[in-house]
Amino acid sequence: MHKTLWDHRYAQRTQRMSGSTIRELLKLTEQPDIISFGGGLPSPDVFPLERVKQASELVLKTQAAYVLQYGTTEGYVPLRKMLAEFACRFGVDITIDNVLITSGSQQALDLLGKILINPGDRILVEDPTYLGALQAWNAYGAEYVPVPSDEEGIDPGALEAAMRCGAKFLYLIPTFQNPTGKTLSEERRKKIIQLSDHYGIPIIEDDPYGQLRFEGETVSPIMALDGAARDDCAGCYNGNVIYLSTFSKIMAPGLRLAWVIAPPEIIRKMVMAKQGIDLNTSTFNQALAYEVGRDGFIDQHIQLIRKVYKERRDVMLEALTEFMPQGVSWTHPQGGLFLWATCPEKINTESLLKVAVARKVAFVPGTSFFATGGGYNTMRLNFSFCVPEKIITGISRLGEAIKESL
Ligand SMILES: Cc1ncc(COP(=O)(O)O)c(C=O)c1O
Repeated sequence: MHKTLWDHRYAQRTQRMSGSTIRELLKLTEQPDIISFGGGLPSPDVFPLERVKQASELVLKTQAAYVLQYGTTEGYVPLRKMLAEFACRFGVDITIDNVLITSGSQQALDLLGKILINPGDRILVEDPTYLGALQAWNAYGAEYVPVPSDEEGIDPGALEAAMRCGAKFLYLIPTFQNPTGKTLSEERRKKIIQLSDHYGIPIIEDDPYGQLRFEGETVSPIMALDGAARDDCAGCYNGNVIYLSTFSKIMAPGLRLAWVIAPPEIIRKMVMAKQGIDLNTSTFNQALAYEVGRDGFIDQHIQLIRKVYKERRDVMLEALTEFMPQGVSWTHPQGGLFLWATCPEKINTESLLKVAVARKVAFVPGTSFFATGGGYNTMRLNFSFCVPEKIITGISRLGEAIKESL
């Protein structure tokens, strides 16, 4: 019997696949004595458990034959309608033909890679950006062009310079960005829409956190501003933006449920690509999410999440002020799950992580989020997962680890 030599059999695309530092870190959170600010985990304290239990029973009682069966690739119609209505609140016409349900936004990112990216295509990304998007698109041979950001998010001047050389699309997380927590101003959003129109470069707007605003003025999604500015969007959105959002941060990530809003033509292509991946997203989970979210429950629930996360953000900001040595700075996000800290230049946060883990605290070294390297002295801190007492202890341990490394 011959033993198969797998190394020679892997497709070329696997050469650019790599494991995620964050998923490795998540393993650390399983050790009970480590305080982890690493993963992008929502708090289990705000999972709507009772409502999920009731909805689950109801769905099985009234629709078992349907929800335990295969479903359509586009998704469960009542849920798509609910999401279309939800999006219409932003003042843009969305129909269910604009909506596709996916198994997490992560799947939507992969589907978009599958239908849009040829090897060598230039993809414009924020610097830093969401690591999971880079992971999804590496396999399709994407070439990333990082565009610098400042306090208000991506810099439109630098973006225009990058767009002049062409690109397949621009990828943005404009609201409470992962990893920095920054939000792109409305003025810049409008400018970016003009640039996208002028250079014919579409935008993928990834918005898992937009609903989780604790303070400050709401800024409309880029998709909504784009739709409102067009006369070819009456009745059904048909603009330049592909919008992604998810139930992971407003209901529960274990459901693996998200949605895409895009021109119907893009939805149709994604449906074809999705058929080759999983045929359809769990019918049961879709019906469950619909029952959980309906009749205004999701809006009430979002209020609760905002309250809990605001308190945790405040606790983390106070603890940083108390325990960080001089020379460390951090962002003050008005919502979301993360803040971004920058250490003095002599600190490399990958080495710092080892010191920190020895002191039983973890974070994500910032360099993982830079498509082409950089940010060696930065880190992402999640404030949603740990209870306030743990946040204080964890930040004090982190402060000690930084002092030790200076
Ligand atoms: C910017 C961004 N996009 C996509 C995802 C993936 O979300 P989902 O749980 O819906 O797959 C995340 C998760 O943290 C994220 O931060």
